[in-house]
Amino acid sequence: MVSDEELLQRYPAISDLARLAKRRMPHFAWEFLDSGTGEDVSKARNRSRFDAVTLTPRFMQGEFAPELSTELFGSEYSAPFGIAPVGMNSLAWPGTDRILARTAARHRIPYSMSTAANETIENLGKLADGMGWFQLYPPRNPNMRVDLLARAREAGFTTLLVTVDVPVISRRERQMRAGVGGGFRLSPSMVWQCMTRPQWSMATVSEGKPRLPSLERYSPTDDLQTFLAFVGEELNGTFDWSYVDSIRNEWDGPMVLKGIMSAADAQEAVRRGVDGIMVSNHGGRQLDGAPASIEVLPEIAGAVGGQARIILDSGVRGGMDIARSLALGADFVMLGRAFMFGAAALGERGGEHTARLLRTDLSNVMSNLGCRDVASLRDRVASAG
Ligand code: FNR
Repeated sequence: MVSDEELLQRYPAISDLARLAKRRMPHFAWEFLDSGTGEDVSKARNRSRFDAVTLTPRFMQGEFAPELSTELFGSEYSAPFGIAPVGMNSLAWPGTDRILARTAARHRIPYSMSTAANETIENLGKLADGMGWFQLYPPRNPNMRVDLLARAREAGFTTLLVTVDVPVISRRERQMRAGVGGGFRLSPSMVWQCMTRPQWSMATVSEGKPRLPSLERYSPTDDLQTFLAFVGEELNGTFDWSYVDSIRNEWDGPMVLKGIMSAADAQEAVRRGVDGIMVSNHGGRQLDGAPASIEVLPEIAGAVGGQARIILDSGVRGGMDIARSLALGADFVMLGRAFMFGAAALGERGGEHTARLLRTDLSNVMSNLGCRDVASLRDRVASAG
């Protein structure tokens, strides 16, 4: 077996994992994972706006090993980054939820479980071993919401992410063209794609068809298509600030609104008593004219003024992007596709490898910036882009 060190030499960057993942996954599954929406302008903007942020190094700082550990909401994490929630991630690689929950437990970084995970709340809570965050797509039915929250708490999830940025699912034209827009029915062309990706197909057959087992008990039916329609209808209503108040009353741990893109929404969230603001454009998957999250981060961090913790995701692809986010006002950073690429490229070892790659990369970037700890990154901004 290749050693961890050799793996780092072979796949030193997230882009290497993305290339390998694309080769291993059927086209439709890749399109589901990689696509944004519309013409993917917002997704490309996430990249170009990160690239425009520059940080100035300081030298003559003596010898030191950068300290990555970070406190958030009363928990100690070994690094200032974690795994963002990605639904239906067994399409990337079967068992990805379990792979990443185990990775989080070993590395002591957060693992966010999606409402649309392909594994149960109960199993993932156990595997994440105190590192689990639970993501809620707010159900219309309050009983379902209360029950999901109770199960998450019971299973050991510490932190609640309430996703606010999907008033309706966006059109995601690349997914439509690939046959995965609005439900999964295998067409002959998709079957052919599976046949040309035998490792993925064999792993998928042995794992069984992806399901949403945490939600099945709420469904009136066992039929997959009807069930998916039920989930779509139940979890995609527009909701309002009074709904946020209800969740605030029901969840007594740290609560974060995920998908905030304006200072005004961030300030209202603080008034409603949330503990964290997750600045995110959903990885460019919802609104093709949205700004990049790194672009709006400084204004939101300024408006919140330390009254809530700031988390950022969307477009983060390495240690440099994590450093840029922390320098511009984030307290913590999450990555969605980067970890999925890892799992799709390397299976069970992929989560572990991605976490190690990001730690090594961030540590190297901090050494080159002359930053002993995460807090000192704030003094290094040369241009915010
Ligand atoms: C997501 N994201 C997401 N967010 C959420 O709150 N619940 C979910 O179930 C999902 N599902 C999902 C599926 C896929 C395939 C992707 C790519 C993304 C959004 C995710 O949490 C995160 O905001 C983005 O992935 C961040 O952008 P990057 O890191 O992928 O560029």
